[in-house]
Amino acid sequence: MTYYQENALNYFNETCSLDTIAESRNSFLSYLEEGCHILDLGCGSGRDSLYFRQQGYKVTALDMSEELTKLASKFIGQQVVVGSYHTMNYIDQFDAVWACASLLHTSKQEIGQVFENIIRALKPKGIWYMSFKHGSGETTDFRGRLFNNYTTNSLEKLLQKFEQLTILNSWNESSNLRGKQQRWVNLLIQKMAG
Ligand SMILES: C[S@@+](CC[C@H](N)C(=O)[O-])C[C@H]1O[C@@H](n2cnc3c(N)ncnc32)[C@H](O)[C@@H]1O
Repeated sequence: MTYYQENALNYFNETCSLDTIAESRNSFLSYLEEGCHILDLGCGSGRDSLYFRQQGYKVTALDMSEELTKLASKFIGQQVVVGSYHTMNYIDQFDAVWACASLLHTSKQEIGQVFENIIRALKPKGIWYMSFKHGSGETTDFRGRLFNNYTTNSLEKLLQKFEQLTILNSWNESSNLRGKQQRWVNLLIQKMAG
């Protein structure tokens, strides 16, 4: 995905203070213990990592775009990891994974492997949030970005394969994105113990 690399500053400015995810963020945090370790996967501007840090959580922020990670590192006040959720190899390391509008750039063919990587990265009983654009199939936007879209049903069906997961909550919401209403699918999941 070259878009974020080539348009890092614009994208950073566009998203670093978006407050449309505040409710999802609070819902996620309501499941977490104080000070626990969160992986912000595909952190973009670092907006949510900064918030989590301000709330006293330990954060590892990771993004594939090196240019965005430079901006995000400054913004957050800690080094952001340059990496990909396709190749990350964390094992039982995080109490929670926050994947806000980031896994949506993975194709339907590859998403299962990315889910495996996330499950492996989570500690037993770990909490995982993810969000996608509401819809079906794969689409490409005017910026050339691939989007893999889901409904709550199709996402829940996909997750049935992973027996170690329990869905805690799923909900749809609409928010204003660049002057247009955009519908989102949100999911909160727990990895079972043992
Ligand atoms: C739509 S943005 C969302 C950014 C941020 N989570 C937010 O909510 O503002 C998608 C982000 O995922 C990152 N990304 C795309 N593919 C990735 C990959 N394979 N591994 C890690 N990050 C990736 C992009 O660089 C971009 O920062």
